[in-house]
Amino acid sequence: MLRFHFLWLLVFCSALNSSSARHAPFAMRISCGARQNIHSPPTNTLWFKDFAYTGGIPANATRPSFITPPLKTLRYFPLSEGPENCYIINRVPKGHYNVRIFFGLVTLTSFDHEPLFDISVEGTQIYSLKSGWSDHDDQAFAEALVFLRDGTVSICFHSTGHGDPAILSLEILQVDDKAYYFGQGWGEGLILRTATRLSCGNGKPKFDVDYSGDHWGGDRFWNPILSFGQNADQRRSTESSIKQASKAPNFYPEALYQTTLVSTDSQPDLQYTMDVDPNRNYSIWLHFAEIDNTITGVGQRVFDILINGNIAFEGVDVVKMSGDHYTALVLNTTVAVNGRTLTVTLHPKGGSHAIINAIEVFEIIAVESKTLPEEVRALQVLKNSLDLPHRFGWNGDPCVPQQHPWSGADCQFDRTSHKWVIDGLGLDNQGLRGFLPNGISKLRHLQSINLSGNSIHGAIPSSLGTIASLEVLDLSYNFFNGSIPESLGQLTALRRLNLNGNSLSGRVPAALGGRLLHRASFNFTDNAGLCGIPGLRACGPHLSTSAKIGIGFGVLGLIFLLIICSMVWWKRRQNILRAQQIAARGAPYAKARTHLSHDIQLARHYNHHGNARTAAENGPSLLS
Ligand SMILES: *[C@@H]1O[C@H](CO)[C@@H](O)[C@H](O)[C@H]1NC(C)=O
Ligand SMILES: *[C@@H]1O[C@H](CO)[C@@H](O)[C@H](O)[C@H]1NC(C)=O
Ligand SMILES: *[C@@H]1O[C@H](CO)[C@@H](O)[C@H](O)[C@H]1NC(C)=O
Ligand SMILES: *[C@@H]1O[C@H](CO)[C@@H](O)[C@H](O)[C@H]1NC(C)=O
Ligand SMILES: *[C@@H]1O[C@H](CO)[C@@H](O)[C@H](O)[C@H]1NC(C)=O
Ligand SMILES: *[C@@H]1O[C@H](CO)[C@@H](O)[C@H](O)[C@H]1NC(C)=O
Repeated sequence: MLRFHFLWLLVFCSALNSSSARHAPFAMRISCGARQNIHSPPTNTLWFKDFAYTGGIPANATRPSFITPPLKTLRYFPLSEGPENCYIINRVPKGHYNVRIFFGLVTLTSFDHEPLFDISVEGTQIYSLKSGWSDHDDQAFAEALVFLRDGTVSICFHSTGHGDPAILSLEILQVDDKAYYFGQGWGEGLILRTATRLSCGNGKPKFDVDYSGDHWGGDRFWNPILSFGQNADQRRSTESSIKQASKAPNFYPEALYQTTLVSTDSQPDLQYTMDVDPNRNYSIWLHFAEIDNTITGVGQRVFDILINGNIAFEGVDVVKMSGDHYTALVLNTTVAVNGRTLTVTLHPKGGSHAIINAIEVFEIIAVESKTLPEEVRALQVLKNSLDLPHRFGWNGDPCVPQQHPWSGADCQFDRTSHKWVIDGLGLDNQGLRGFLPNGISKLRHLQSINLSGNSIHGAIPSSLGTIASLEVLDLSYNFFNGSIPESLGQLTALRRLNLNGNSLSGRVPAALGGRLLHRASFNFTDNAGLCGIPGLRACGPHLSTSAKIGIGFGVLGLIFLLIICSMVWWKRRQNILRAQQIAARGAPYAKARTHLSHDIQLARHYNHHGNARTAAENGPSLLS
């Protein structure tokens, strides 16, 4: 069974101003594992320390690439603490963001391998690290454009069993609300993960900031590419300024258009090929500016653009389309790629040469629906009351990314709410020691609960009876005590109920007992105190507490009465005996003492025919 473990790292940055004024995009940079805030050269960039965390281990960092920010620490997440770890960053104003995560390598000889792990943002998996990442500048980080709407962003690292995720930095940089708008289908339901970003004909890796680009650009990283291969192209550059470069919504740095690759006579096509994940959609952005003075007007350089062999743009004439020389032209298109490579071909027409200044490729990722919030809260309550071990984690979203759901929670997509819901809890034999909270009924889509073989104590919550869809309830082999709630009788869908091996007592609810007839499989054995169905002992009369108190008093009163009665009887018996003795002696005052002796006297008086002595002898025998 896969075991998952989340750690929550809560980062609060009160120092940040959430103003959305155009001149100041929201920017938060976090130096993982840092004990204090850091200003990094050469741009004096501010990195916040990651305090208020609850997990992971800070360590000294080895930067795998020289483009990695100059930070000395990282935070890594040992598998022993569980495979899922999240930073939850609060107070992020609603907006559109470039989220970037740089990876690190722990500076210890015992950590000699690069870790491979998955990354999710807001519950959507955006990236899986590929082996060899630490040898490539543009693989030293993951980056994606994400809409954030609820004031927080969760960034999670999911272990895949290849080393401990080690994170050097997190950046949450606001961009224009329409940044990378590509037309139909674009919007909040999508995340654009940067697959590559190339500055053609340029020799140095640069960020927007190195180009003194606009802050609204998201401080993109531009990987330099001097040639598409085998001397098939030439470099060209200019110092002249470029029109239409740094404008909304993408604010590209002007310098991007000051270098270019140009095809040659020997190889007229310019062709760039990259590896991609198959069966995904990609958004491709191509940048041009005519910086060659030998091209003097419209029609002198015309080329087609093909993507994986299919024409994406026909007859591209940069001067014509941008309106002038030294003017930026940006074209974008989206393509579905089935294979493992993506090839952009620029095919010149009429003997001209193709040019290209920059290429950007994004993977288009559909945002995952999250889990119904009240069910997430209910699971968190359950986590606390069951005292779930560390290795479970159980933070972030229980059901997404779908590749990394919470261990022990079964998820199902609910088409009415368009959210994930929990339909099963399988926490059998996990050494759990807590109790079962009443709030478990908030998981109202549960069909199956198996908590068998733990050490859960306390009562069975009566609220379980309100989970109408419950079909299987296995609480066997725990320390549940008290009685079985009557409410379980309302569970009409219940097929299996295992309560055996607990310390339950009292009567099995009649509604459950009756159900035994309907082929349901119930087990109540090994509970010393249960009674009331075949196979268990018979129950005594069922009495309420007040009835018991009433009966108690009644019994006391009865005993009291009996004592009084027997005292009276004893006394009378004494008197009678005495009266008999007196009557036997014929004492005259005996008449006044008791009626009984009076009767005896009468019997004697009216027995004219009998012997007075005989009557007196018979009297007491009648009364005894
Ligand atoms: C990190 O390196 C510093 C010296 O540069 C050292 O003092 C410190 O103990 C190291 N920390 C860890 C966790 O190894
Ligand atoms: C991208 O291309 C689409 C048409 O394919 C266009 O509507 C959109 O404005 C372009 N985006 C930008 C930012 O130029
Ligand atoms: C790619 O886009 C098409 C059309 O927009 C969509 O139907 C398909 O599901 C997308 N594929 C992936 C893998 O996102
Ligand atoms: C619950 O889990 C136990 C132990 O893993 C298993 O033996 C039992 O069959 C499960 N109960 C149900 C109802 O599936
Ligand atoms: C059940 O056990 C708990 C301790 O685990 C105890 O406090 C409680 O009184 C017990 N309840 C009953 C009805 O025996
Ligand atoms: C009920 O549980 C007991 C153990 O507590 C077991 O021996 C018995 O076989 C179970 N009965 C059924 C019908 O599963």
